[in-house]
Amino acid sequence: MLQIKSVSKTYGEGAAKVVALNDVSLHLDKGDFIAVMGPSGSGKSTLLNIIGGLDHLSGGEVILEGKRIDNLDENALVSIRRGKIAYIFQQYHLIPSLSALENVLLPLTFCREEGAREKADDILRRVGLERRVEHKPSELSGGEQQRVAIARALISQPSLILADEPTGNMDQKTGKQILDLFDELNKDGHTIIIVTHDAEVAKRTKGTIFLQDGQIVNRTGGKGSIK
Ligand SMILES: Nc1ncnc2c1ncn2[C@@H]1O[C@H](COP(=O)(O)OP(=O)(O)OP(=O)(O)O)[C@@H](O)[C@H]1O
Ligand SMILES: [Mg+2]
Repeated sequence: MLQIKSVSKTYGEGAAKVVALNDVSLHLDKGDFIAVMGPSGSGKSTLLNIIGGLDHLSGGEVILEGKRIDNLDENALVSIRRGKIAYIFQQYHLIPSLSALENVLLPLTFCREEGAREKADDILRRVGLERRVEHKPSELSGGEQQRVAIARALISQPSLILADEPTGNMDQKTGKQILDLFDELNKDGHTIIIVTHDAEVAKRTKGTIFLQDGQIVNRTGGKGSIK
């Protein structure tokens, strides 16, 4: 479902040039669940940003469900991302003035669907927040805020979920609950890529790629598909 072909990314020029990704290739099947590990600065976030269309690549191709997505204009990219790719960040990026429910509904604001409210309620129940619907982010714990962010990601029924250190700000127990949720989502057929520094987190995925200096230096497991 996702093919990354010889992707490179450089920032800056001359003496300030940084090679963030150097000829990275990766192939994921539907239903895969992989971890991306590697030292700070190795290119993990850059890789996720490029897959998610948040950043332009310097070379190579990204193909999602048979369609090249690295050379699309902003409008096409927005519509692809809205339907297919969801992003979850370490810092939840919720809107502070909105309730949990309103945050979850946000992606649907511009294409208000029939039954959006019911859908949001269902998803909030799914992530265990049915009793926090009216709470603002400042009234929620870190784990709860991340669950709101996950619910917001799920409302557009993405086939691919990209998560950049989603448990980075949590204690182990809360992190485990979030990972249990990712497990369930994966069982429901969502393909997931999760960036993590934590080997325990990586153990719970189906495979891991290790980045170093912008290159994949090792790969393990995967649904037979980390190629
Ligand atoms: N906008 C930018 N401009 C210039 N250099 C950048 C930019 N973004 C990232 N870099 C550089 O690219 C390299 C890869 O960064 P990236 O954020 O992908 O690392 P990372 O593996 O996610 O690290 P961390 O574990 O600390 O989050 C780093 O050397 C970084 O300094
Ligand atoms: Mg990073």
